[in-house]
Amino acid sequence: MEDRTLKVLVCGCGRVSEKHAKAIKTLSSEYELAGACDVNENAAKQMIANCGKAGTTAKIFDDYKKAIDELHPDVVSITLPSGLHYETAKYAMEAGANLLLEKPMAMSEDEARAIYDISKKTSRKIAMGHIYRYLPVVGLLQHDISKGVFGKVTHGSIYVRWGHGDDYYDSAAWRGTWKADGGALMNQTIHAIDLLVWLMGTEPVEAQAMIAQRLRHIEAEDLGYAILRMEDGSLAHIEGTTATSPARHSAEFSVFCEKGQITMGLVSGKAHIDIRDERGKELNSRYLTAQLKAGGIGSFKTALNPHLGIYKDLYDCIINDKEPIASAYDGYSSVDTLMGIYKSAKLGKAVELPLTEGFSSLDMTDYFV
Ligand SMILES: NC(=O)c1ccc[n+]([C@@H]2O[C@H](COP(=O)([O-])OP(=O)(O)OC[C@H]3O[C@@H](n4cnc5c(N)ncnc54)[C@H](O)[C@@H]3O)[C@@H](O)[C@H]2O)c1
Repeated sequence: MEDRTLKVLVCGCGRVSEKHAKAIKTLSSEYELAGACDVNENAAKQMIANCGKAGTTAKIFDDYKKAIDELHPDVVSITLPSGLHYETAKYAMEAGANLLLEKPMAMSEDEARAIYDISKKTSRKIAMGHIYRYLPVVGLLQHDISKGVFGKVTHGSIYVRWGHGDDYYDSAAWRGTWKADGGALMNQTIHAIDLLVWLMGTEPVEAQAMIAQRLRHIEAEDLGYAILRMEDGSLAHIEGTTATSPARHSAEFSVFCEKGQITMGLVSGKAHIDIRDERGKELNSRYLTAQLKAGGIGSFKTALNPHLGIYKDLYDCIINDKEPIASAYDGYSSVDTLMGIYKSAKLGKAVELPLTEGFSSLDMTDYFV
């Protein structure tokens, strides 16, 4: 496709859409906001205002079907409650649009698989909102691990302690419900699960999990632990919770290898990084310098808004017919893993992945009752 400005329609103008607006505003040569769709007109107006010059000709809609039929957008950004992702993604792709689809791709294994299949059948790109893949240095580490620089991967580990109070869950009726959101694993931890699987360079083949409700008054879990057995025999450990202090968000991943180990994380907005070879020698500056060389100082800006990286990547993929860094397959695969984790918690035993019989977050409805 020739280089041109792509028309984007943003469906859902709530919290996360602010990050989309910032990215569209910054990339005003690549994208123009053609429309903002929300049942709340003021939210749509705010979205347009937040896009600055890139939103000058944008129209407001309250129905995504009408918006897609009228605008014929190149890209539909789906930032609606997760329970609406499937129907919107299907309609948009069948109407000819590419997607920037927020995580999780869908609320069931069947729906995620169907979205992936439609993207293949219609040759539409899907860039998933799996933001951690777009952080600086992470891509270089993925490349080196996959090339064997760190030797055999033995195991990996993540924790996501992303405290949210009841005020967060009360801010919208869909939050914390099995139908439209899921709990701490499905909403907050899916980014880190996706990242860990990508870095380890292998697929989950078995999940064993436990979930709990400790503090939050929601339908789904506010705490979950899972262990994944990977196809290459390595193991991955997952902790995800919103039952910690909202004043101290922290998340971290570690990948342990034969010839080194990698840890990166965030505590209250402050990043830390610890990359070592097998003798314990620190390699941080080598990777930071390599990132500077590869992407310039601007590439560190994606740490402040990873959605900027997603929009840049999606543009390149549409124009040059490439697969996004976080693709349709990755969206499907992470939902499959999450459904396997929930199924394992429900059955109280390990389950094989990928799931062969569909499982939906709705199958968890009676779990805590
Ligand atoms: N990638 C990330 O970093 C990230 C961060 C936060 C949220 N998310 C994901 O983004 C999605 C939205 O999350 P949020 O926190 O912005 O939610 P939100 O509730 O703040 O925003 C959702 C918006 O959708 C609108 N809406 C609801 N139903 C609609 C309908 N039928 N038609 C049109 N508009 C409708 C609401 O009025 C609201 O403005 C979720 O899937 C969430 O998991 C991703």
